[in-house]
Parts: sequence; C-alpha cells; structure tokens
Amino acid sequence: MPEQSWNPEDYDQNARFVTDLGAGVVELLNPQPGERILDLGCGDGVLTKKFVEFGCRVVGVDASPEFIVAARGLGLDARLMDGQALIFNEEFDAVFSNAALHWMKDMEAVIDGVWRALKPGGRFVAEMGGHGNIEKIEKATRRALRKRGLDKKVPEPNVYPSPEEYGALLEKRGLRVNQIQLFPRPTPLPKDMKTWVKTFRKNYLDAVPLKDREAFLEEIQEEIRPLLCGPDGRWSADYVRLRFAASKP
Ligand code: BEZ
Repeated sequence: MPEQSWNPEDYDQNARFVTDLGAGVVELLNPQPGERILDLGCGDGVLTKKFVEFGCRVVGVDASPEFIVAARGLGLDARLMDGQALIFNEEFDAVFSNAALHWMKDMEAVIDGVWRALKPGGRFVAEMGGHGNIEKIEKATRRALRKRGLDKKVPEPNVYPSPEEYGALLEKRGLRVNQIQLFPRPTPLPKDMKTWVKTFRKNYLDAVPLKDREAFLEEIQEEIRPLLCGPDGRWSADYVRLRFAASKP
C-alpha cells in the first residue's frame, strides 16, 4: 500500500498556504520567550522557525525524512519521529501542532505521547482537519479510485474527528479541554485541483498506472469543478478545521 510521501520543493510551491494559515493556532498557543515547545508534525519547519525567532526553545518532529532534512536546513532541532510513538518525558511547556494530526490515525497513541511529553501545567494546542474536512474532494477522488478497482488497495490516509470525539479522547487521558471548536475554512488554492491532488494525495496517484494518471486527475478535477471552482477560474479546497487548547493539570 503506497503511503503519502512529501517533496519539500513541491510543498513550498503548492502548499505554503498551510503554514500561512497557521497564524490563528499560533495565537491560541501564545508562546512565551524561553518556553520549550514541541512542534508535532513540523513539516519543512517554516512555522517552527517562527517560534525560534520568538525566543522559544523548539524541537520539531516529523515522520517524513524529506521534511526533516528541509527543517534541519533551516537550522532547527528537527528529529525523525512518528507522532504516534513520541519518546519525550515531562520536558515541554507546550506541544503545538498545525495541519498534521489528521495524518496520525492512532489518535489515542498521539495523545498518550503528548501527555508524557508535557510538564505538569503544560499546554497542548493544535489545529487539524476536523469532521467533514475535504468531503467534496475526497468523494471525487474515491470515486475515481473505485472506478479503477483501486479503492480497497488505497485506504484513506487521514482522520477527521469531531470536537466531541477528540475532546473525549483528550479528557480520557487526563487533559483538561479549555477550548475546542470546529469551523469551515474554504481555502483558496494557489493552482488547480489537479495540483492539490498531486501534492496531497500522492499515495492515490502512485496506485494509478502511469499511463492513466492524467485521465485520473482530469476526471477528479472536472467532477469537482462545479463545486470548488469559482466563476473567475480560481480553485478552493473545502477544508474544515478542528482547533483546540488543552492543558495537563
Ligand atoms: C488538511 O490540511 O486538512 C489536509 C491536507 C491534505 C490532505 C488531507 C487533509
């Protein structure tokens, strides 16, 4: 089963909006100079670096070797680690995550590792895809896979919990949920839907025989066009965000 892989150059050109839209959750974190922060799913480190520039002591972790190379290239302390198997012990004032937790399907394992990583009184502040995220895009891509007999071979790589579901998991592990909300965030894309699929559904594309890939992309794009392409020809993605702030008593 092919897994999603990342190309930092491609990400920089076609997905920089992910980092740019992280400002709201950074504000919710309210980092203080000198704090030790874990950036869980730090990607290429562009947002992580902002915490360092602000005077925080930051460790970034990501499961993508390509992203870790890119983040280290920015001078960051970036470590290759599965967010579902964190190895830290009561050492962070805060764990932060932007647009990464929906790639970690074992949500309880993530929360367990975050709990262990936090000092007493530490914060867990994050934003991720939430219930209903990219429903229109996913419907069209799954249909195109099904048509080719590939849908069973390529499982959906993400989880999009509701506030009730994620809040209950946080509380079950003993974290106090200070705030949790779900909100739609239709997000303008820098290019078209084919580019989005190539960037974020690389694992789907890899399952499609090379000679059929362009037709696969074209089919998805034309199905979604009436729903997510404006009269000006600009595309957007039907993102829904789950944002929360929790703390360890
Ligand atoms: C998201 O940020 O919600 C997302 C991005 C790519 C694929 C799936 C979800």
